[in-house]
Amino acid sequence: HQEKTKVKNVQSIELGRYQMDTWYYSPYPEPHASCERLYICEYTLKYFRKRRTLLRHLAKTPLRAPPGDEIYRSPPPPASDPGRVGGAIASPPLSMYEVDGKKAKVYCQNLCLLSKLFLDHKTLYYDVDPFLFYVLCERDAHGSHVVGYFSKEKDSAEGNNLACILTLPAHQRKGYGRFLIAFSYELSKKEGRLGSPERPLSDLGAVSYRSYWMRAILEALRDHRSAMSIKDISEATAIRTDDVVKTLESLSLIKYWKGDHIISVTQKIIEEHMRSIANQKTIDIDVSRLHWTPYG
Ligand code: COA
Ligand code: NA
Repeated sequence: HQEKTKVKNVQSIELGRYQMDTWYYSPYPEPHASCERLYICEYTLKYFRKRRTLLRHLAKTPLRAPPGDEIYRSPPPPASDPGRVGGAIASPPLSMYEVDGKKAKVYCQNLCLLSKLFLDHKTLYYDVDPFLFYVLCERDAHGSHVVGYFSKEKDSAEGNNLACILTLPAHQRKGYGRFLIAFSYELSKKEGRLGSPERPLSDLGAVSYRSYWMRAILEALRDHRSAMSIKDISEATAIRTDDVVKTLESLSLIKYWKGDHIISVTQKIIEEHMRSIANQKTIDIDVSRLHWTPYG
C-alpha cells in the first residue's frame, strides 16, 4: 500500500535564535500545517503561527530546559588551554537530558513533529510512550537550547540502541551527530549490551555512522596492546559484531581464513588511518560525568 507523497507544507521555522528552512513534510495539525513559517518554543517545542503568540507563551512558561533529567553536563574547559581539549574541538557547554515519552508526552510528540521536518522516511509522532528521548542542549545564562536528539526504545526486541537521530540544520557539521551516536553507545556500555541503530538509515545517518564506527574501532585497536578479536572490539565499543565486521572490511583490515574472520593490522596501519581522520570534529564525552542507570 503506497502512501501518496505528501507535499512539504511548513517552509521554515524559527527556533530560539535560528531560522531554518525545512526539508520534508511533517504532519503538523491544521491550521499550523498551512503556515509558511512556524514559530517554535525552544523549551516546550510548542508551535505558533505568530511570533507574538510565541513571546506571550515564553513569558508564561517557566521551563528553560527540556522536561526531563539532566544526565550529562560537559566538563568546563581547562583554564590553561580553553581552545582545545586533547585533540577534540571546543564546544559550548553542553547538557544531555533524558525525557520519558510517557511522562512528557506532548513535548516528545512535538519533538517528533519537529524532527520529521528533516527526516524523509516515516517516523513515529503520537505513540511516544515506549521511547526515551535524549535531548542535547547548548547551555547559557538563559537556559538549555536544543541542538539535536536521539530516541531510543525502552525495550527494543532487535537490540537497537537508537531509533531516530537529528541535529537541527543550524547546528549540523559541528560534531553533534557524532556526539549523539557516541552517547548512544555509552548508554549501551552502561547496560552491558551491544547496540545498533534502527534501520533503514538515511544517507546522512549512514555517513555519520560509518564515520563513527571507523574512528571508534581504530581507537580501540590503537589503545589495545595485544591482538583483538571481533568480539573483543564489540565488547570494547558496544558496536554490534556485524557493524564491526563491515567497518573492518571497508578499511581492508579483515581476512578470511578457514571460514573465520581474522583481523590483519599493524600499529603502523592504524596510525596511518588515524592520521587520515585527524580533522574530524569530535567532542569528547567524559563518562565520569554521565549519571544514568538503565531503564526498567
Ligand atoms: N555531507 C557530507 N557529510 C556529512 C554531512 C553532509 N551534509 N553532514 C555530516 N556529514 C559527515 C561529517 O563530515 C562527519 O564525518 P567526518 O567526521 O568523517 O567528516 C559525520 O557525517 C558526522 O558529522 P557531525 O557534524 O557529527 O554530524 P551532524 O551533527 O551534522 O549530524 C545527522 C548528522 C545525520 C544527525 C544530521 O545530518 C541530521 O540530523 N540529518 C537529518 C536527519 C537524519 O537523516 N537522521 C538520520 C536518520 S537515520
Ligand atoms: Na551554524
